[in-house]
Amino acid sequence: MEPVKVGVIGCGNISDVYFQSGKVFEAFEITACADLLPERAEAKAAQHGVPKACSVDDLLADPNIDIVLNLTIPKAHAEVALRALAAGKSVYSEKPLAVAREEGERITALAKEKGLLVGCAPDTFLGAGIQTSRKLIDDGWIGEPVAATAFMMCHGHETWHPDPDFYYQVGGGPMFDMGPYYLTALVNLLGPMRAVSGSARVTFPERVITSQPRYGAVIQVNTPTHLAGTIDYANGAIGTVIMSFDIWAHTLPCIEIHGTEGSLSVPDPNGFGGDVRVRRAGTPDWATVPHSHGYADNSRGVGVADMACAMRSGRPHRASGALACHVLDAMQAFLDSSDAGRRIELTTTCDRPAPLPMGLLHGTLDP
Ligand SMILES: NC(=O)c1ccc[n+]([C@@H]2O[C@H](COP(=O)([O-])OP(=O)(O)OC[C@H]3O[C@@H](n4cnc5c(N)ncnc54)[C@H](O)[C@@H]3O)[C@@H](O)[C@H]2O)c1
Repeated sequence: MEPVKVGVIGCGNISDVYFQSGKVFEAFEITACADLLPERAEAKAAQHGVPKACSVDDLLADPNIDIVLNLTIPKAHAEVALRALAAGKSVYSEKPLAVAREEGERITALAKEKGLLVGCAPDTFLGAGIQTSRKLIDDGWIGEPVAATAFMMCHGHETWHPDPDFYYQVGGGPMFDMGPYYLTALVNLLGPMRAVSGSARVTFPERVITSQPRYGAVIQVNTPTHLAGTIDYANGAIGTVIMSFDIWAHTLPCIEIHGTEGSLSVPDPNGFGGDVRVRRAGTPDWATVPHSHGYADNSRGVGVADMACAMRSGRPHRASGALACHVLDAMQAFLDSSDAGRRIELTTTCDRPAPLPMGLLHGTLDP
């Protein structure tokens, strides 16, 4: 079948892996790219053999493009997504879907009105590590889930990212930057959330960039950089979360799920592979479980391929706008809860995405 035609808007740091994915997955191909800075689009087109580098307006006017792949910075996600939908194109955005829940709701409402699809990163939950974890839970290895822990702690991104300002503005911070990986993986494993509580702070009001080319520049921090919270899941499980850019070192695991019959150690949700370990009640040690699924290497773009397959067959896509809206609602609610000093009931929910089938050929998804 003909690959679905995709146009990339935003040719920065993360775009390379998507340009590569356009060649790995049979369901889509990247036929054009654009950026506010035209020289960036031209450079990526030349590097990856993309047929056309053009302006954002030209890309949106291209009748051959079915999906806009929105790889801009978080505060531009909503504007670019809404423009793509208005131009009659489905849109798949990098995370987060938007920087405010109202924007997310506007995006999904416009898509519904126009009969178009919205997808959103992260798609790491479609990787081997989280799909294997999901299968173990669904097959009953740990019984009924009771508790989940999710810890992401580091000292921020100004030591390596060439343009790290957005990580310290509204829509950045550890919750909006890294929270999507953890919360999305957990919705895939446990189902939707019901309520959250959070306590958040800014520890360092200024950050000094030590990466090139902006070594020595100072960033004013305008969003919390340390957050601790709890999550009540609709299925009754209770989650404990820390997301922080204020921690120099730690020894806590990324994600664990504890059930009535055992415990599961889930690999880093900001990756596709990693060890999955289980320890059943009464057993003396943890056992590493072989991956039941493929996509253990960096496969960013598998969510776009899944959405392209869904466009062709009409089945639901997994990294969906509804899932991203629910995660966005929760991320904002953690911060709202900290401000208000009380637990916040979420107003959104979503279906648990369908598990991937086992045995897929590399570069394919279920039709
Ligand atoms: N860098 C990473 O390792 C990484 C990993 C996973 C996800 N992400 C996500 O990917 C997105 C992009 O991150 P990045 O690191 O590539 O950022 P970046 O700053 O390197 O690149 C963003 C690009 O978008 C362009 N842009 C911004 N606003 C635009 C607009 N309105 N129209 C057209 N182009 C516009 C910029 O000129 C820039 O070239 C973010 O949402 C980020 O959270 C990044």
